[in-house]
Amino acid sequence: MADLRDGRSGAVRAGSLATLGGGRVPRRGDDLARSEVVPGGVLAWADGLVTYAGPADGWRGGPVRDLGPVTVVPGFVDCHTHVPFFGWRAEEYEARLSGRTYRDLHGEGGIYRSARMIAEASDEEVISFCRPLLGEMLAHGTTAVELKTGYGLSVEAELRLARLARRLSDLAEQTCTVTLLACHAVPPGMAREDWVRQACQELIPAAASEGLVDAVDVYVEDIAFSVDDLRAVAEAARAAGLPVRCHADQMGDSGATEAAVALGARSADHLNHTGPAGVAALGGAGATVATLLPTSTFTLRAQPPPVRGLLGSGAAVAIASDFNPGTSPVLSMPEVIAMACTLYGLPPPTALVAATVNPAWVLGLSDRLGTLEPGKRADFVVLAAEDFRSVPYRPGHNPVAETWIGGRLVSGHSG
Ligand code: NIG
Ligand code: FE
Repeated sequence: MADLRDGRSGAVRAGSLATLGGGRVPRRGDDLARSEVVPGGVLAWADGLVTYAGPADGWRGGPVRDLGPVTVVPGFVDCHTHVPFFGWRAEEYEARLSGRTYRDLHGEGGIYRSARMIAEASDEEVISFCRPLLGEMLAHGTTAVELKTGYGLSVEAELRLARLARRLSDLAEQTCTVTLLACHAVPPGMAREDWVRQACQELIPAAASEGLVDAVDVYVEDIAFSVDDLRAVAEAARAAGLPVRCHADQMGDSGATEAAVALGARSADHLNHTGPAGVAALGGAGATVATLLPTSTFTLRAQPPPVRGLLGSGAAVAIASDFNPGTSPVLSMPEVIAMACTLYGLPPPTALVAATVNPAWVLGLSDRLGTLEPGKRADFVVLAAEDFRSVPYRPGHNPVAETWIGGRLVSGHSG
């Protein structure tokens, strides 16, 4: 049966197959909750691309490996992480449990501490720290992932992190994109407006001209950057031909969400404190995806975003890990799905679309990934579960039996 596993062609039959094909992307409204399952479905591929995904009786090709009562879904797309970083911050986690807040710790700890740790590490040490984490993501079904800078806090250090992110992309099995988090924390000893000017005039053009990044991000918060800073960065990103994204309303309602939508941002992320105006903006005709990060809400024991309002308004929703050593040391998309359902009340079919189709759009990859349709890459996950509901139903359990990228088994054991 080698021909089924050699990466060039193959076919499997699953008790449940969710192709997630059809409809406009990013999915919103009724389309967001639509993830029909083909019982006993066949997924086939050739040259790493899907050639058939549908009912077994429509399959006219060669032999099929019967996977039994499992669920096959598109590979998870984690569209918001803070890899590369170096080292953990468990002390801060413990300090928060005894009453300190994320805001209090910003400075002695937080982003500044991660910036110090990565500055003191060699490139090889950073790669050796991050590479196994990407391997662990693979074992949890993540087949495409965003990498992000942000712990550099100077032009040179941010460019170094972007280059390291590209090196990691080359080493990873996953499809990776790189985001320049140009404004994450005001560099020590610098005025905020001076850093924003430098980020816009030097950093963004340099990163773009070296082809190091695929998007630009800004952290809007009272301890970080303002809505006006977001506008300046969005303008610099537009001039460099890059989409903009925004960390919006994580700890307070700053108006960042409405501004991100007005600027045509690819996503507004976090949204814990987004008010009615932000919800209405995301629900409007704009292209901005509401990216929810439930494991950071869980880790910070924060207020959940207005999820019901967002779903009701017709917003396009994605979910992601926000994997970072401060607010979300969680890299498992099954865990993110569990938190999205249990903590935020997302229906499981919506969580599945929000973990695959919509984040692929956020990363600019939806022409290739996010669904299992002919012509898309054969990136899929075999879940040891009779139906997708079991994923959020059993938090802490890794349901991923096999992860396949481009029709090649990259994690788990087949057969
Ligand atoms: O998305 N809050 C801003 N940025 C990250 C956390 C970064 C850190 O604490 O290291 C976030 O939650
Ligand atoms: Fe983040």
